[in-house]
Amino acid sequence: MIKLLCIVGTRPNFMKIAPIINQMEKYNSVHSPQEIFEYLLVHTGQHYDDNMSDHFFKDLQMPPPDIHLGIGSGTHSEQTAKIMIKFEKVCFQENPDLVIVVGDVNSTLACSIVAAKLLIPVAHIEAGLRSFDRRMPEEVNRIVTDSLSEYLFTTCRDANENLKIEGVLQNKIYFVGNVMIDTLLKFKEIANSKVKRFNKLKALNYGLLTLHRPSNVDNKKNCHQIFEALTEISKKVPIIFPAHPRTQKMIDEFGFSHFFQKKLPFNLAQMRGIYIIPPLSYLEFIYLMGSAKLILTDSGGIQEETTVFGIPCLTLRENTERPITIKEGTNTLAGANKEKIIKESFNILNGKGKTGKIPELWDGKASQRIMNILLEGFSKN
Ligand code: UD1
Repeated sequence: MIKLLCIVGTRPNFMKIAPIINQMEKYNSVHSPQEIFEYLLVHTGQHYDDNMSDHFFKDLQMPPPDIHLGIGSGTHSEQTAKIMIKFEKVCFQENPDLVIVVGDVNSTLACSIVAAKLLIPVAHIEAGLRSFDRRMPEEVNRIVTDSLSEYLFTTCRDANENLKIEGVLQNKIYFVGNVMIDTLLKFKEIANSKVKRFNKLKALNYGLLTLHRPSNVDNKKNCHQIFEALTEISKKVPIIFPAHPRTQKMIDEFGFSHFFQKKLPFNLAQMRGIYIIPPLSYLEFIYLMGSAKLILTDSGGIQEETTVFGIPCLTLRENTERPITIKEGTNTLAGANKEKIIKESFNILNGKGKTGKIPELWDGKASQRIMNILLEGFSKN
């Protein structure tokens, strides 16, 4: 029996762990009790609002967490330290053979440090991505997590190159594809059949916006430039903006709520302007993404998902740790520059956006590859 702890903490972690759990369940269902994976799902509680966490478990058909650390918000050090203290106790108690972490959030970093110090091997899913911008908290999380991991699972070949340059041993690096895309491909059709609320939008032109990076939403000037640009764009197509709690808080603090309409009209064909709404469920969001004319975002994962959908994405950042979405996919960087955001958006709305192609191994089978590699690793030891 192999005992694993799977870590989640924030919204984008859930869709990355879901296919791994699914693979383990499949494997366990055809193996004897001595051979199975015993896994525990540990939720740090970094995200805690229902619409940022609990609803995702239902949408993604995931079991509820076995262990909840209930950490909540705080400064980076507070959050990381609190997770470390509680997660260390979990490791002492459970004595796992492996800890699986995903992505680049504070929960990823905190649990990797704890496991590495206790000599428990760490598997990092989505290793090797680099923005080369250490002002971004996630970049620090990525570098430290990768340097502590025994299994580094990458989504693209450039991530392998980044790791090699940093001196990671080649036999620890595995190019497996993208687990987030496993989930997207699995749930795309389910979303189309289950989501009724936005049915009428399919036939309309609209844009979809997400925004939560501190560099955009904690900076009044950048935030203002972005909202002014969006106001111009929304004269051509209405924009739907499911707002992250951090963003909503800053909009209130900066007095920027006049930029937005608060309630979607009963008849969606009458939408005009920018509509700010609470965060959506996973299925609702991918439904809306699938038929949008234009996506504007500062998220990491959405740059990848839009590439698979073949829908033009304008990333409101100066750089990206996911350059493959620019080189091969549908992504374009626009920063927080008002003129650039307007120009690129109009380009897309005029049908000149990128169509791109789907990157190598983003085929829905990444989680299967990961499980095969882990099984082989454990059978050797
Ligand atoms: C975190 C990740 C970021 C990821 C994002 C996805 C880090 C450093 N950042 O950013 O990489 O892209 O999640 O959403 O780990 N809040 C709530 N309810 C919640 C969660 C957050 O109200 O359920 C509010 C709190 O005011 C909190 C703030 O949002 O202080 C920021 O939350 P935090 O987890 O610190 O970072 P995110 O911005 O969500």
